[in-house]
Amino acid sequence: MGEYPKVEVREGRALVLIPDLSRYMVSGRPEPAHAPVFYNPRMEVNRSVSVAILNAYMDYVGGGNAVVCEPLSGTGVRSIRYALEVRGISRVVANDISSEAVNLMRTNVELNGLNNVVSVNHDDANHLLLELARSGGCDVIDIDPFGSPQPFIENSLRAIKNNGLLCVTATDVGVLSGKYPLKCVRRYGALPRKFPFRFEVGIRILIGSLVRYALSMDYGVKPLVSYMDGHYYRVCALIVKDRSAALESLGNMGFAYYSPSTLDRGFIQGFPMPGSTKRQLAGPLWIGPLWDYEFLIKHLGNYVMDYFSDRARELITALINESSAPNVPYALTTELTRELGRELPINDLLGMIRGLGYHAVRTHFHVKGFRTDMNLERLRDLLVGK
Ligand SMILES: C[S@@+](CC[C@H](N)C(=O)[O-])C[C@H]1O[C@@H](n2cnc3c(N)ncnc32)[C@H](O)[C@@H]1O
Repeated sequence: MGEYPKVEVREGRALVLIPDLSRYMVSGRPEPAHAPVFYNPRMEVNRSVSVAILNAYMDYVGGGNAVVCEPLSGTGVRSIRYALEVRGISRVVANDISSEAVNLMRTNVELNGLNNVVSVNHDDANHLLLELARSGGCDVIDIDPFGSPQPFIENSLRAIKNNGLLCVTATDVGVLSGKYPLKCVRRYGALPRKFPFRFEVGIRILIGSLVRYALSMDYGVKPLVSYMDGHYYRVCALIVKDRSAALESLGNMGFAYYSPSTLDRGFIQGFPMPGSTKRQLAGPLWIGPLWDYEFLIKHLGNYVMDYFSDRARELITALINESSAPNVPYALTTELTRELGRELPINDLLGMIRGLGYHAVRTHFHVKGFRTDMNLERLRDLLVGK
């Protein structure tokens, strides 16, 4: 086993050894990417929310005896947490290309008494996924890479079973949300725009790209949970392996538009081309729901554990709340108050919109963001007394 200093940490129900991050500091902060094996303490939120999502998924599909695969496992903490905290799992395949990671993972699996449940594998993720596809496939696949999940999507779709749950993390939020548009076109085949709701455009491009891979195999995609948390996007979606599901997903592909002068925004259905339009477009991207309301309300809410971090619990609550919002792009309070010359507290604005008989729900994508079915130009005019 690699000789580098390690420390024990408790996360969820797991106890794991990780590299001593105090040895890998950059500008006074630990830099997990510099350690011999990757462990990011901030991603506890991602892992705890995922534990809840996997439990909810087991309920949702009435699953048991499930096989879970994590092709990019690092220390193995996520796989170990799934084995310890999610009901109905019979086997977890934890894999990494790095031998340091695999050695540490073996120690951690042993430390948690999981030798019979978690098998540790040392391979390239794509190679492993193809092998799993040949040997019966997995119920859940969790892709948690550095940067973009793109290189692993196609083989994940091959390895996942019908009605399986595919979860992906993407840490290239800047690329997807419009900072590097041409990189996004190259990597995801879609044009982002710096619309006020650009973070939503980004996650919809990510889902849209997943859908396009799935469509090429005649599979459909149904997002169960999608969110952004700081530096990453996360999407967990049901993969339905039949043609009618693929056609349904195709109907949820299109473009987002935004007009700065009228604040008008929305989606235009149509893939690969929209109907004729003079509006600025972003896409192609997913225009269907980002959440399954029933999944969040009936299932996910039951699995918020008191030992999750405050942030993980807050995030799930925010997502449950937001899942009831109309499927329109979010708006920022600042877009509406620019002409007013002063800011308006978001809760006052939401109260006012609701008082007028419309829906108004905060979005987790932005502290000043909300979704409403009220016409935004009309709302802006009302605020400035027109
Ligand atoms: C972000 S870390 C994984 C973190 C882990 N999922 C967690 O929750 O703590 C990404 C991992 O992918 C591994 N990796 C990179 N390229 C790979 C490949 N082609 N196949 C398998 N593993 C790979 C790296 O060694 C690294 O441990």
